[in-house]
Amino acid sequence: MTEASDLQRKILELKEEKGALLLAHNYQVPEIQEIADYVGDSLGLCMKAARAEDAGLIVFCGVDFMAETASILNPDKKVVLPTLSARCPMAAMLPVRVLREAKEAHPGAAVVLYVNTLAEAKAEADVLCTSANAAEIIRKLDEETVLFGPDRNLAFFASRMNPEKTIIPVPADGFCNVHRFLGDGAEAMELKKRYPDAELLVHPECEPEFQLKADHIFSTGQMYRHCAESDTKVFIIATEVGLVDRLRREIPGKTFLPARKYAECAAMKRITLENTYEALRREEPVVRVPEEIAERARAPIERMLEMTR
Ligand code: 13P
Ligand code: SF4
Repeated sequence: MTEASDLQRKILELKEEKGALLLAHNYQVPEIQEIADYVGDSLGLCMKAARAEDAGLIVFCGVDFMAETASILNPDKKVVLPTLSARCPMAAMLPVRVLREAKEAHPGAAVVLYVNTLAEAKAEADVLCTSANAAEIIRKLDEETVLFGPDRNLAFFASRMNPEKTIIPVPADGFCNVHRFLGDGAEAMELKKRYPDAELLVHPECEPEFQLKADHIFSTGQMYRHCAESDTKVFIIATEVGLVDRLRREIPGKTFLPARKYAECAAMKRITLENTYEALRREEPVVRVPEEIAERARAPIERMLEMTR
């Protein structure tokens, strides 16, 4: 038995003993995904966290804002993030002061925030969204003008899907460095020439120029389901490479090509089997949002869950 699988077994045993729920994002390393109770996109993880009443402990293998969201939904439970250094840089791009200024400048606008935000910003939102439901949530709102942050590329996608709405990105240039690294899709189009039957699946955090070249624009969870269900055999995947690993492992007989190699999220990759085992054993570091903020942030998260089909 390899060292990794030995540690995996120890985590599984301890998890069982403590009745812990291990949630992992699609960008986690394979050895974490293999032992998780659930692997998915931000929306799926949020839904699982909302129904975690039986869990003795939640171990969140993802990034800070995801664990914070799980904690907001489970104020009486311990949520541990294996390392507090797993911080999404995009979430920090919308300071609450900037959001308040935008709200003052556009008093009639709805405030729709991506879950990739700090808890203090969530507390100022009308409703949250993920990449899987941003367009749907905005379509269902009565307001014609929407303040949307922090990802301007997801704002671009949501605007294309809702041409009758005015969507104002706040800040003007919030972005994910991993998806920006994928560029305008020129390399993916070279792959398309070599594999003309391949479908190009692009994440909405990618640049607008890349989105316009896509066959489909999907969250990571939607990409997974589409690849599993479609008759297509070859896919070019424009998102973080952790999803490509999962697709190759779980959907045999199909070919998955990363739009660009080395598109890795450093924050997601800070979670390891070692720090996951330690977090489960010591039940720390705990992620807890001050109750005053959590109370205000809970309503827009719950509204998102209610508004999602
Ligand atoms: P999804 O998995 O929800 O598509 O999100 C991607 C992402 O970058 C999460 O931070
Ligand atoms: Fe944040 Fe981008 Fe990493 Fe997602 S992939 S956690 S948005 S930095």
